[in-house]
Amino acid sequence: MKIVVIGGTGLIGSKTVAILRQHGHDVVAASPQSGVNTLTGEGLKEALAGAQVVIDLANSPSFEDKAVLEFFETSERHLLPAEASAGVRHHVALSIVAIDRTDNGYFRAKVAQEKLIEASGVPYTIIRATQFMEFLRGIADSAADGKTVRLPPVLFQPIAADDVAANVAEVALAAPRNGIVEIAGPERAPFNEIVAKYLKAVGDPRQVVRDPEARYWGGPVEERSLVPLGEARLGRIGLDEWVRRSQAAA
Ligand SMILES: NC(=O)c1ccc[n+]([C@@H]2O[C@H](COP(=O)([O-])OP(=O)(O)OC[C@H]3O[C@@H](n4cnc5c(N)ncnc54)[C@H](OP(=O)(O)O)[C@@H]3O)[C@@H](O)[C@H]2O)c1
Repeated sequence: MKIVVIGGTGLIGSKTVAILRQHGHDVVAASPQSGVNTLTGEGLKEALAGAQVVIDLANSPSFEDKAVLEFFETSERHLLPAEASAGVRHHVALSIVAIDRTDNGYFRAKVAQEKLIEASGVPYTIIRATQFMEFLRGIADSAADGKTVRLPPVLFQPIAADDVAANVAEVALAAPRNGIVEIAGPERAPFNEIVAKYLKAVGDPRQVVRDPEARYWGGPVEERSLVPLGEARLGRIGLDEWVRRSQAAA
């Protein structure tokens, strides 16, 4: 089966491409480097010709509120009609748990992306994942003030990129749900405790301070703002195992 992975060179994209190729599929890893640009529409028609499934794993180069909204809206406005013309039978997109009940600029852009997918008429499955473990350093950096990292004690359940890619590949090969599937890591604990455990494990001397007033990417968060409320598929890789694997691979 021909499968196009938009953002096929990214963190989740490259892992998903590898899994699908192992299953024997004809996979196009599409990105601006390979001449496929969802912001301009360049190369889409050629890449999508004969494709049955498209998996959108692209991400915005800028996380600034206006830039990220424009990235996801413009990209979907080029991609979805091109898929409809090419007769694509399943559009899979990776989104984020709780984007519609937690407010920040990046989440607003992902809500806009989801709405365009739902209205497109192309059969789809949206996978909402919790934060990637690979993103923990970026989260610590964004919440840092010198040697102190301030985080709220809200529940957090990060998932390893390998688990995300395995779920994306499985969903892409199944029938479209025309709905949302949620995935999360195997362990749930307060945000500040998980980041403190991560920093300690990687030898980062910064101290994490539990701060109930601290925000997430500028937005307020409550106890269950970042975790699935209902049933979710759980990854297999816990934080200790992920740190061990990352250090072995380094
Ligand atoms: N970070 C999290 O915790 C989290 C949690 C849940 C869901 N997500 C979602 O997961 C998805 C994948 O994230 P990621 O971290 O794997 O992304 P990433 O590593 O930043 O990769 C982004 C990919 O998008 C491609 N790309 C950038 N601009 C493009 C354009 N104009 N046209 C086509 N492709 C373009 C990049 O290509 P180049 O290599 O050529 O630049 C790259 O392949 C995103 O949609 C994100 O919202 C993230």
